[in-house]
Amino acid sequence: MMKTILITGASSGIGKETAILFAENGWNVAATMRNMQNADKAEALPNIEYFRMDVKDKNSIEECIQEVLERYGKIDVLVNNAGIYTTNPIELTQEETIGNVIDTNIKGVINVTKALIPHFRKRKAGTIVTVSSIAGRLTFPFQSVYHTSKWAIEGFMESLRYELKPFNINLKIIEPGVVKTNLYQSIQNLPLEKYPDDYKESFGKWYKSLTDGYTKGYNPAIDAKTIFRAVNSKSSKLRYRSDFSTKLAFFLRALLPLSTFQHMMQNMMSK
Ligand SMILES: NC(=O)c1ccc[n+]([C@@H]2O[C@H](COP(=O)([O-])OP(=O)(O)OC[C@H]3O[C@@H](n4cnc5c(N)ncnc54)[C@H](OP(=O)(O)O)[C@@H]3O)[C@@H](O)[C@H]2O)c1
Repeated sequence: MMKTILITGASSGIGKETAILFAENGWNVAATMRNMQNADKAEALPNIEYFRMDVKDKNSIEECIQEVLERYGKIDVLVNNAGIYTTNPIELTQEETIGNVIDTNIKGVINVTKALIPHFRKRKAGTIVTVSSIAGRLTFPFQSVYHTSKWAIEGFMESLRYELKPFNINLKIIEPGVVKTNLYQSIQNLPLEKYPDDYKESFGKWYKSLTDGYTKGYNPAIDAKTIFRAVNSKSSKLRYRSDFSTKLAFFLRALLPLSTFQHMMQNMMSK
C-alpha cells in the first residue's frame, strides 16, 4: 500500500521540492498551502494532490487533516515545513511581526502536530518531521525573534520524543543552513537611512552579509533529499543537516566556548 505524506507550506521552496521528491518516489503527497492559487500554478504530478491549510488557523488545520484522511485513509508522515522569517533590531520589531512569527513558526508546528498525534497513536505508527533551522541551535545578530521560534520548536520536538516513543512515533528535526528560497523575500524592513544611528552601521553590515549569503544559498532540493533520508532512516537520529557549511558551523559551536564563538560571529558579521 502506498504511503502518504502531508507537507505544510508546500507552495514553494523546501516544501515544494519535498512534495516533488516524495511523489517521484511513489508516495501519495498531500501538498498543503494557505493559498490555493499556488496549486493552480504548480506542475501537475500524478501523486500530488493539493489541500488548503493555513497553519495559523486551527479550523483550517483540522478540516485539512480530515480531508486528507478521507482521501487516503491514513497519513504516514507529517512534515512541518511552513515558516516565516524576520530580521531587525528587537526594539524596531513590530508587535504584529512578533505575533506572526510566533503564530506561524511555533504555534503552527504545535497545532498541526497536536492534531495528527491521535491518528498516529491509534495506528502505533507515524513520523513527524519538523523543519527547524541552523537558527534553531546557533544564533546570529538581529534575528532574535526568528531564533526564539526555531529554538522553541527544537525543544518541543526533543521533549515530544519521550512522550511519543511508546506509540512508535518517530521524530526528526531538519536544520537547513542558507537556502535559496522565497523565505527572505517577505522581509519588510525600513530603508536603512530611517534606522537610528546606533544601528545603521551594524544592521547595514548584517543585512548585507545576509543578502549576499542567501543569494548564494544552496538549492532547496538538497533539503528535500535530507528529509527523504530522515523519513526512510531506521536510526533514532533526531537532527539532520544538509550541507558542509551548516555542519561546520555546528561543529565550531560545539567545539568553542560560547564567548569565543560569539566573538568570531560578531567579527564575521561586521566586515
Ligand atoms: N531558506 C532558508 O535559508 C532556510 C533556512 C533554515 C530554515 N528554513 C526553514 O525552512 C522552511 C521552509 O522555508 P523555505 O526556505 O522553503 O521558504 P519559502 O519558499 O518562503 O517557503 C515557506 C512556505 O511556508 C508557507 N507559509 C507561511 N506561512 C504559512 C501559513 N500561515 N500557513 C501555511 N503555510 C505558510 C509559505 O506559503 P506562501 O507561499 O503562501 O507564503 C511557503 O510555502 C521554513 O520553516 C524556514 O524557516 C529556511
